[in-house]
Amino acid sequence: MLNALYPLLRPALFSMDAEDAHHLTLQNLMRAHRVGVASCIGNRIEDDPRTVMGVRFPNPVGLAAGLDKDGAYIDGLAAFGFGFIEVGTVTPRPQPGNPRPRMFRLPEAGALINRMGFNNGGVDAFVTNVRASAWKASGGVLGLNIGKNADTPIERAVDDYLYCLERVYPHASYVTVNISSPNTKNLRQLQGASELDGLLSALKDAQQRLADQHRRYVPLALKIAPDLDPDQIGNIGDALIRHRIDGVIATNTTISREAVQGLRHAAEAGGLSGRPVFAPSTAVVKALRAVVGDAVPIVGVGGIESGAQARAKIDAGAQLVQLYTGLIYRGPALVRECAAALRQ
Ligand code: FNR
Repeated sequence: MLNALYPLLRPALFSMDAEDAHHLTLQNLMRAHRVGVASCIGNRIEDDPRTVMGVRFPNPVGLAAGLDKDGAYIDGLAAFGFGFIEVGTVTPRPQPGNPRPRMFRLPEAGALINRMGFNNGGVDAFVTNVRASAWKASGGVLGLNIGKNADTPIERAVDDYLYCLERVYPHASYVTVNISSPNTKNLRQLQGASELDGLLSALKDAQQRLADQHRRYVPLALKIAPDLDPDQIGNIGDALIRHRIDGVIATNTTISREAVQGLRHAAEAGGLSGRPVFAPSTAVVKALRAVVGDAVPIVGVGGIESGAQARAKIDAGAQLVQLYTGLIYRGPALVRECAAALRQ
């Protein structure tokens, strides 16, 4: 029913500011959850389990990070039928993000541009929200995505990731290390060979210590940008293997505007997502698979707006997929369509 409802609600939502529409939708979804109707009107997806990074995913279609930055809407979003939900990016301390407006629709291109800038309530509030989730308590697979505060110097970025990892670790099915947002100054520098080596080795040490402390191994995934050349992809792939990182999420939004030139909002600063990022993002999945072989699982994300495109990510070498912008344009029916296309 939610699937049929969304196309009817979309014109009203699209007549509003993109960020206002976002909050309104999520708040209403949570209301529907609280009064017990969300799961009745939501998607029931048949079990189609995959074990990836040592975690059992009930189906391979997940929610990408950034839609629920504070982990405040997990139980409402669960009604869409996702096999896993990734929340965040969260930073050690709360921060407001960039001034509004900071999210723009480019409907002709099936795209969004955002420069949110990791607006979030900080890791302590995030953990409180995550712990309160009934979906998590019932065994839902939850990825917790961590980043750095805007005012932490890039040379101290490792401290922020370690601070967040320590706090989210006991509550996560997996932890994503986001070094690929274009909206935090210099963040993507961390994808460079020497910076990445330092970061991954510190995180891997911490993961080992936390696994002993909590008697549970929580996998670490690295989230990378689509704007990487073959040498950079080669370096990142080698680093993932060398540091025994459990997975990689490819990709985040692009800074390229090639595919949207001349469209309204195309000149806004930020990361471009949706249809224009599908091809470059899928190319990164393919190139990465060629570098890492079977050693590192890949989560394919970027521009999926149909079941066939979810299948194309798997064919390019991904084990799992995630959605964000496609959901804004197509609503929860996209989750069902992708799950059906990937059913084994
Ligand atoms: C994002 N994305 C994102 N990723 C991340 O790791 N942390 C974040 O906080 C955010 N925030 C965010 C906000 C908004 C408004 C958008 C549109 C996207 C990136 C997202 O998870 C995904 O990687 C890209 O958007 C590409 O996938 P889609 O949107 O083309 O399916």
